[in-house]
Amino acid sequence: MEDKTHFIDAIKTAHESGGRDGVRDVLATFLESWGGPPDWIGPLAGGDFSVIYRDDALTIMNIIWPKGIITEPHNHNSWAVIGIYQGREDNLLWARDGEGIKPIGSLTLAAGDTYAMSADDIHTAFNPSQSLTGAIHIYEGDFLSTPKREWDPITHEERPRIMAETFAHFRDEG
Ligand SMILES: [Fe+2]
Repeated sequence: MEDKTHFIDAIKTAHESGGRDGVRDVLATFLESWGGPPDWIGPLAGGDFSVIYRDDALTIMNIIWPKGIITEPHNHNSWAVIGIYQGREDNLLWARDGEGIKPIGSLTLAAGDTYAMSADDIHTAFNPSQSLTGAIHIYEGDFLSTPKREWDPITHEERPRIMAETFAHFRDEG
């Protein structure tokens, strides 16, 4: 657990001194040194959506993406830094368009990659592979109490994002 504590402390320090981009730089350094899942995470459990650290300023989560799982298009209403330590996480990127959203691009993240998002960025994230993806997701603020938005993937109608539904989806697919 010493390594886990060291990781959390390093991310908190990076946040205080360098904000989002400081967090991204430090996370990238850890990913490179780990070269895969860090020992303190233990055996990967598909569908795990667990909080590593949480306070009013910062939330660090470990997310294990079951094979083929996909989220709804959503924002976070806080900046985010994603770092992959195993597998692959693909993203569809969206922008607001009138009452709905429109596609503006896509992005593939592989092990060792990091990605920084702004508070109003919208993405669909999915695991396109037949094996588990392991990722650290870091959010400014208290991720679990920050209201977020999502969009119907077919009609693009906007609605509140209910995290309990996302957790259940991951658990069911895991
Ligand atoms: Fe997201």
